Amino acid sequence: MLKKSIEKALNEQVRVEAESSQVYLAMACWAEVKGLDGIAKFMYAQSDEEREHMLKLIKFINERGGHAQVSALKAPNVTFNSFKEMFKKLYEHEIFVSECINKLVEITLDEKDFSTHNFLQWYVAEQIEEEAMARTILDKINMIGDDKGGLYLFDRDVQQLTINSSVTPPDA
Ligand code: FEO
Repeated sequence: MLKKSIEKALNEQVRVEAESSQVYLAMACWAEVKGLDGIAKFMYAQSDEEREHMLKLIKFINERGGHAQVSALKAPNVTFNSFKEMFKKLYEHEIFVSECINKLVEITLDEKDFSTHNFLQWYVAEQIEEEAMARTILDKINMIGDDKGGLYLFDRDVQQLTINSSVTPPDA
């Protein structure tokens, strides 16, 4: 049975993951209307992944005797000055999510809830992967600079980039 304090903290993270899904969905739309189809596909996939992260939390809360909350979400930013700025925001957003996960882990230790602590290790590993991927993408973008041919190749190749995660998939 989940303690109320843990249930509340987990529900906060449900909201963070749901908002992340919306943030990347807005990025996908921006890229799609700009004709950056590869980047759009990548962002749609990111958005789906965040929804999976949210669902995994929801199921855990409900299965442990809590009640997962579906709450109102903050509207995401929908326009960007450049695709580079957009990927920078993705990276910054992932750092923010990692901080949220770390705080959550800290709460489970304070409350001595070791099963939730164990459950959250999947998210800890996932955040390492996501931050690393975002950094790799930013490095590639910096290499391209303003080269249009480079952008064409980047847009073509980025859709192949998925989180090559060795950790358990979200619905396992
Ligand atoms: Fe669910 Fe990208 O953090």
